[in-house]
Amino acid sequence: MSKILVIRSAATGEASVSNALIDAYLAAHPEASVTERDLDTNPVPHVSSASLAGIGRQAPEGAEFAATRALQDALIAEVFDADVIVIGLPVYNFGMPSTLKAWFDYVARAGTTFQYTAEGPEGLVKGKRAIIAQARAGKYDDASGFPYALPHTKGLLGFVGVTDVTVVTAEGMAFGPEAAATAIADAKAEIAALA
Ligand SMILES: Cc1cc2nc3c(=O)[nH]c(=O)nc-3n(C[C@H](O)[C@H](O)[C@H](O)COP(=O)(O)O)c2cc1C
Repeated sequence: MSKILVIRSAATGEASVSNALIDAYLAAHPEASVTERDLDTNPVPHVSSASLAGIGRQAPEGAEFAATRALQDALIAEVFDADVIVIGLPVYNFGMPSTLKAWFDYVARAGTTFQYTAEGPEGLVKGKRAIIAQARAGKYDDASGFPYALPHTKGLLGFVGVTDVTVVTAEGMAFGPEAAATAIADAKAEIAALA
């Protein structure tokens, strides 16, 4: 049975387009075992002086060391346990939601999910597939590298070793209800058809 890790980051709950795409994927894979992290309802704390050492960065042990390390261990274990990581990516001011960035700040731990070698950094999360369910109001050409949300997300996944990444995008949400409905339906069909 394949194991899916779902990372949701939309602040829009029931109205979320990225969540709807994730749901379409899950509905097409009823046999899978699913672990969910909803960073809206259950956010990972932003990195602070109290938690910095806990996430494995060079710093004095702050007040939250033990709790931070325990949360980081749990988040990383979920990543290693998954076959497929499905990430909801609402575009916020051209980037990823800060809640999702906070999750990556915890997941990227030297010696565990990546390591530095003489040839440079090496991702240690091997053999996984990621699916990014992207939603945005505008229309963009991702080949241009703008907005930054997608290249940043793919870059961080690649940094920890996840290079098999499929992107499904519903865009143009601000182009009127009909255009939005068509874009959502097309993206739902596309993500549901993925193996
Ligand atoms: C704080 C904020 C910033 C946003 N910035 C952008 C943006 O830079 N570009 C864009 O195309 N859409 C932007 N949007 C629109 C969202 O990307 C769009 O509503 C998308 O559907 C959000 O995903 P969701 O439906 O899963 O919540 C922004 C929305 C919010 C709430």
